[in-house]
Formats: sequence, structure tokens, C-alpha cells
Amino acid sequence: MIEIPFATPADLELSPPGSPDGFNVSESLAPRRANSAAVTTAISFDGLLQEPLKLKEDIKDGCGGQLWPAGMALAKYLLSRHATDLSDKSIVELGAGGGLVGLAMARGCHLEHPIYITDQEPMFTLMNDNIQLNNLGPNATAAILNWGEPIPKQIPSKPDVIIAADCVYFEPAFPLLIATLQDLLGPNSVCYFCYKRRRRADQRFMKLAKKLFEMEEIRDDADASAYNRDNIFMYTIRAKKTKSAM
Ligand SMILES: C[S@@+](CC[C@H](N)C(=O)[O-])C[C@H]1O[C@@H](n2cnc3c(N)ncnc32)[C@H](O)[C@@H]1O
Repeated sequence: MIEIPFATPADLELSPPGSPDGFNVSESLAPRRANSAAVTTAISFDGLLQEPLKLKEDIKDGCGGQLWPAGMALAKYLLSRHATDLSDKSIVELGAGGGLVGLAMARGCHLEHPIYITDQEPMFTLMNDNIQLNNLGPNATAAILNWGEPIPKQIPSKPDVIIAADCVYFEPAFPLLIATLQDLLGPNSVCYFCYKRRRRADQRFMKLAKKLFEMEEIRDDADASAYNRDNIFMYTIRAKKTKSAM
């Protein structure tokens, strides 16, 4: 197994072979990586996890099958800043890929309830493989959640916490992601959202999101300025308060 030092997220910028849902993601946006064989990586997030997370990466079924830079950044932030304060929360991860962020939380965040790691159907086996690889069966549940579609019944309808890392990368999916955030965000929900700005279109997503939601840049992260230099930004997203709730 390979330990990826967190200092090299730029390496992780390479990759997805194609979109998981039949969209063609251009290789200029996300170039194909040289070696597409499945690998298992051990990640301790700079020692934040005593027992490193084992993550199988397999890109044969879509771009979520590998590590992405915003996922690494968000996992490290949540492990360093939210290891204890989310214990009683219901948590749903969107676009989890192989489950990097959600499984890091399941291992390191002292959660009382299983975290739902969700993605499209092609990622389902990989999410489950990674749950099993880490013996996180009681702590994490894999589920299929297609953005823009009704929230499946098994998933908490207004979770306390939503996690979304590197989900802004393909413009046709932007309205779908927005719709799912609108569905999931209840008056007390917070979404921890991390994205890497790659193209002008990503700005359009952020502009629309800022219009629709309360968005606040996360500033209590020690590595924030390093991430920003790498065009990685973290936000909290909340539903806008309605007049009657104010
Ligand atoms: C760039 S990957 C990020 C994976 C992971 N969050 C990480 O940071 O390593 C984006 C993920 O979003 C998922 N995704 C894309 N479009 C989706 C949709 N319409 N519904 C649900 N998931 C989607 C992909 O399958 C992929 O796993």
C-alpha cells in the first residue's frame, strides 16, 4: 500500500477517465491518469487518523474511483476541526466517490450514527468495498443518491450535516447538485463544501449557490491559505432563512 503524504494534493489533480454518468468530461479538465489499475492506498491525513484509512481506488467505473484534491482537503479539515462536535449528527455525503471523506469521518470523528456515503450506481461497489476494507460496516452505509432525483427513503431527508467534496467539475451536473442541496438542507442543516476552481464555469456554480444559499468561507482551517493558492476553497452552506423563521 502507498501512503500519500498530504503535502502532494497537486498530484491528485490528475485524472478522471470519464464521467460516471455517461457525460464526457474532457481530458483537459481532468486528464486520464497513466496507470488505471486498481490500487489500495493508506491515508493517515498527516497523522490525524491513528489507524490509516485504506482506500481502494479504481477508476474503471468513473472519476469518483480515485482521490481528489478537495476531498483530501475537506477530510483533513473535518478530522482536525470537527472530530468531536458532530457525534450525535445525522450525516450524508454527496458524490462520495470511493468514500474518502465520509470514511475518514467514520473512522476519526466519533460518530454515534452511521454516516451515509452516497454516489451514483457505478460507485456503489467501490463504496462498499472500502467500507469493508476498513471494517466500518456499523459506522458507514453506502447508498445511491443521484443529484436532481428524489432523495431515497433510507437517507435522512434533512440531515444535520451534508458533506460534498470536489462535486463542482462538470457544468451539466450543476443544476442537479443545486437541486439536491435544496432538497436536503433543512433549517438546521449545514453542508461542508469543498471545491477546486478549475474553470470559469465553476464560478457560475458558486455565483448561483451564493444567490440561493447562505454561504460562508471556512476560515478556521490552518491550511486554508495553502489550499487557496491551489484554488481549493471550503465553505459552509446553509438554507437561507425565511422571513417567518427570522
Ligand atoms: C470528482 S469526484 C469526487 C469524489 C470524492 N468526493 C472525492 O473528493 O474524492 C465527483 C463525484 O461526484 C459524483 N457525481 C457526479 N455526478 C453525480 C450525480 N448526478 N449524482 C450523484 N453523484 C454524482 C461522481 O460519481 C463522483 O464520484
